Amino acid sequence: MNGPGRVRLREVTANDVELVDAWEADPLVKGEFNDFGVPHHSIRDSVEAGTVVGDDHGMLIIERVADSQPIGTIGWRAVSYGPTTGSRAWQLGISIIPEGRGQGFGSEAQRMLADHLFATTDAFRVEASTDVDNIAEQRALEKAGYQREGINRGAQVRPTGRHDLILYARLRTDP
Ligand SMILES: CC(C)(COP(=O)(O)OP(=O)(O)OC[C@H]1O[C@@H](n2cnc3c(N)ncnc32)[C@H](O)[C@@H]1OP(=O)(O)O)[C@@H](O)C(=O)NCCC(=O)NCCS
Repeated sequence: MNGPGRVRLREVTANDVELVDAWEADPLVKGEFNDFGVPHHSIRDSVEAGTVVGDDHGMLIIERVADSQPIGTIGWRAVSYGPTTGSRAWQLGISIIPEGRGQGFGSEAQRMLADHLFATTDAFRVEASTDVDNIAEQRALEKAGYQREGINRGAQVRPTGRHDLILYARLRTDP
């Protein structure tokens, strides 16, 4: 899946397993807002089973176009607001290696993922929740066309305590 810009989103392959597992185990790559203090699981089994992307979840590699280097991952999973098919939304999660941050790649990747999910599924909403203190992700989402909708108070527990999250979403009908 190629984009017109400076990053592309592509499938996770067997060649990526060691790198993605190493990122997952590295607190500097995960970042404080993705650190839940729980054991990490290798993606090897899901890569070998071909289940990295499924009907209700998925993950892609964010690759820098200039040198074709992987710089992070972006994933999504279904969240449901009711029993009807139309009430299903996608919630995304993203992690970029420290040297890749602050250069617009995260914003571009999150815009591309919403475009991809709107093009390949019937979903009406693509959303992301981020810590009230995660200014970089809030800014990246805003640049990617996601709108701030509100605060989910006390929604997330991490080793640092209980945290408020800001909910952002991009709708199929948004510009
Ligand atoms: C959050 C993340 C995905 C954003 O991707 P990115 O490529 O760094 O983001 P971008 O460069 O597209 O945009 C970041 C914006 O935030 C701004 N920013 C970064 N850190 C900031 C800070 N501490 N305070 C204020 N603004 C900040 C940048 O200046 C930039 O805005 P600008 O383009 O208007 O100058 C990336 O930094 C990352 O992977 N962080 C660690 C993991 C994480 O927090 N994931 C999200 C969990 S919900």
